[in-house]
Order: sequence, then structure tokens, then C-alpha cells
Amino acid sequence: MSNLPNLRECTICIIGLGYVGLPLAVEFGSNKKNSINDKKINRKVIGFDINDERVKQINLGKDVTNEVSIEELSKADYFEATSDENMLVDADVFIVTVPTPVDIYKKPDLHFLKEATYLVGKTLKKRKKNLKNCNPVVIYESTVYPGATTEICVPILEKESGLKLNNSFRNLGFYVGYSPERINPGDKDHRLTQITKITSGSNDDSADWINQLYGSIIDAGTFKASSIKVAESAKIIENTQRDINIALINELAMIFHKLEVDSLEVLEAAGTKWNFLPFRPGLVGGHCIGVDPYYLTFKSEQLGYTPELLIAGRKINNKMPEWIVKLLLTEMNNKKVPKKGAKILILGLTFKENCPDTRNSKVFDIINFLADLDMNIFLHDPYVSSLKELPYIEHKLCNEIPFEEDFDAVIACVKHNEYLELDLHDWKLLISNGGIVIDIKSIIPKELDPIRM
Ligand SMILES: NC(=O)c1ccc[n+]([C@@H]2O[C@H](COP(=O)([O-])OP(=O)(O)OC[C@H]3O[C@@H](n4cnc5c(N)ncnc54)[C@H](O)[C@@H]3O)[C@@H](O)[C@H]2O)c1
Repeated sequence: MSNLPNLRECTICIIGLGYVGLPLAVEFGSNKKNSINDKKINRKVIGFDINDERVKQINLGKDVTNEVSIEELSKADYFEATSDENMLVDADVFIVTVPTPVDIYKKPDLHFLKEATYLVGKTLKKRKKNLKNCNPVVIYESTVYPGATTEICVPILEKESGLKLNNSFRNLGFYVGYSPERINPGDKDHRLTQITKITSGSNDDSADWINQLYGSIIDAGTFKASSIKVAESAKIIENTQRDINIALINELAMIFHKLEVDSLEVLEAAGTKWNFLPFRPGLVGGHCIGVDPYYLTFKSEQLGYTPELLIAGRKINNKMPEWIVKLLLTEMNNKKVPKKGAKILILGLTFKENCPDTRNSKVFDIINFLADLDMNIFLHDPYVSSLKELPYIEHKLCNEIPFEEDFDAVIACVKHNEYLELDLHDWKLLISNGGIVIDIKSIIPKELDPIRM
């Protein structure tokens, strides 16, 4: 007998209420599909986060990540956010969605994941004392390298709880699963329930159970992987593949620039072939594509294989900010624009379009290069109202696009919808007197002769 929780009536605790955790908590907490096999779902969802401020905002109906609307939050009747660890003891299912960044040496930084796992382990011990009628399930959604759930998390859970993985005797065991998240912040077309969800479990019964649990909220359906390691590997290669594809296009853009040919025109022409992939050059920042490949290179090197292509892709994408600054400096030299004090406008600061996420944004690398050259930098982003990452320059953040100013150069970094809505007249206002225009995302009309990547 497996002693898994009752699918319809379990209490779910989501640990980490960020870009991934909050939409998940709201979806489970809405009980939208209100029955399984014609029997009513009556699940309770506890959202736990160590960030008090975030918890308060969520309980007031506000999501600063813009992933969940106030209406969606208000409909999540069965969900409550808390930063009180004691609330966790009622949970039967724990879903961990905490950050997994890299450290300054680009090695996996698992301290959030380990801390969350210690907390779950300690909670399982308290739960055991309460003698529950099912064995708990701990599911990881945080991106990790293949093997991390079993090698890093399970030993912590076993040690802290005194329970054994897959022991089916009531109150003596627990189960583990891995179900990677694929959401794309800012993208309102591919939302949690519309993306196929990979699931996996530590044995056959738990894998089936976890698959059914997600099946109860994911409209696009689920894909049950054969093992936790397969599910972990699938997630990590999705972003690694994207990183390599963008690196290839970035490298081509550098070559095209030397060839004095417009890369967008080349890519559009090549794109008329049925199997040419429609990638575009750009800055690769954020906490997924620019981070996950390092998890794979770390594990691969640990196992004795140096993944040359993956490392090269990372290097190319990391050097794009410097290359863009060199483009600007060359053009300034050509036009005899003095560097010191030059007025530069940066449009877009986030790591991707239409979302407020500035984590690991490569635009900051560009700004830092320019600031070191004593340039007079103005910043604008419709989604960013303060810049804790760049305190020395925060005062240069404009609330509105500064049409009235004259700039020596404008660098368009992010394809926010607000910039796509500008017409030729608006752009002309902004880019007057023959100023230099660098257009990283091909959003500026060609009439203005932008330097495109
Ligand atoms: N954001 C994305 O687009 C995305 C997509 C797929 C996968 N992922 C992965 O999902 C994971 C979470 O990413 P995110 O973007 O949601 O991160 P996030 O930073 O937006 O949110 C993480 C939350 O976890 C909280 N937290 C940290 N330690 C905690 C702990 N011990 N207990 C409770 N809460 C804790 C933080 O306060 C924060 O609110 C990462 O592994 C990431 O790589 C993210």
C-alpha cells in the first residue's frame, strides 16, 4: 500500500512565492476544475515565503511580478500566503519553487534549495509526531542539475525528518517528485495551465499520483517522465538549447557586422527556408537561459566531461554587452563625439520584454561600461520604477520617455510593447541631430538608420 495523500482533499504547501510559485499556488488554490472522477475537490493551499513583504503584498491582492492579476488572486479562495513556518505542519504535499542561481564563479548556488529542504524535513518530523493518515509528497520545481533532487535533497529530507524515501508504511516514509516549470514571465499567451507539464516521482505510485495532481490543474496535459533524473535533464536542456541557438545567432551578428550586411535582413532571408530556426540576436540575461547551462556544465565537468559547445555558447552570450559598447565607441569615434559627458539614453532595462524582472539583466553590463567612461546616462523602462541593482545611477531613471532631450546616442535594449507602439515621428523626436542609434532588438524604423545587431 502506498499511503499517498488523497488527491482531492490534500493540503498543498508551495514554498517560495515568486514568478513560479505564486501562479502555481493561485492555480491550485482556485479549485477551478472542481472535481476529479465526479468527486468534489476540496484542497487547501498554503503559500510560504521567507519574504514578509512579499507575503503581505500577496495577501493584499498585489503581485509585483505581474504574473497574477488581482482578480485571479481574489478568486483563489483556498489559498493563503504566510511566512509562519508553523503553518506548514498541516501540509501533505510540499512543492518547492525557490531560486537556484549561480555564485560568482558561475557554480550552482543551492543554498536556497537546501534551506527550503531543511525546513520541509523539519516539518515532516513534526508532522510525523502528529500521526497523519498519509505519507507526504515533496515535489521540486526549482531548476537543478540532473541528479540533484536525489543526491542533495533526499538525504536532507531523510536526516531531518527521520523518515525514509518510498517507505510505504504509514508515518514512516515520504515520496519525492520533480516537475520543472516552463513559464515565460511577461508572456500572457503561454501561461501555467497552457503548457504541458513534465512530472516524475520517486517510485511508480508516486509518479502516477504526482502526474494526476498536476493533471488536475494543467489544461495542456502532463508528460510523465520515466524518472526524476529524466525530468531534471529535460528542463536543463530546454534552456541550454536556447542559449546555444542565441549564441550562434549572436556570433553570426558579429560576423555580419564586419561584412557590413544587416543581420536582420540576412535572418529574414534565411528564414524563408522551412527548417531555418527563427532565432534573433540579443542579450541573454535573467535567471534561466543565462544560468541553467552552468548547472549542466558543472555536473558534466564533475563527471569528467568538459562540454565545449555549452561553455562557448555562454562565453559568446556573456560578451555581447562589451561588443555593443565597442560598436557605440567606434561610431562615436567616427562621428567625433567626445565620450566624456556624452548623453546616452538606454531604452529597456529588464532581462526580457514586457516584464519587470531585472535579475541578471545584461543591460546593466552595458550601463556599467558606459558609466566607467564617465558618460551621462539616462535610463528608461516602463516596467522599472527603482533600481536597487545600480544605486549610483538610480537618479537617472526617467518616468517617461524623455522626448524633449537631445542625446548623442540611443541604445534600444528591450522589445517592450510600449516601444513597439512608438511611430516614426516619436522616434525622430527622440533621435534628432544625427545622434547614434544602436538597436539591439530591431525595433527602431530603418529610416533612422539604426545600427542593428
Ligand atoms: N521565473 C521563471 O521564468 C522560471 C521559469 C522556470 C523555472 N524557474 C525556476 O524556478 C525557480 C524559482 O524561480 P522564480 O523565478 O520563481 O524565483 P523568484 O526569486 O521569483 O521567487 C523565489 C521565491 O522564493 C522565496 N524563497 C527563497 N528561499 C526560501 C525559503 N527557504 N523558503 C521559502 N521561500 C523562499 C523568495 O523570497 C522568493 O519570493 C528557480 O529554480 C528558477 O530557475 C523559473
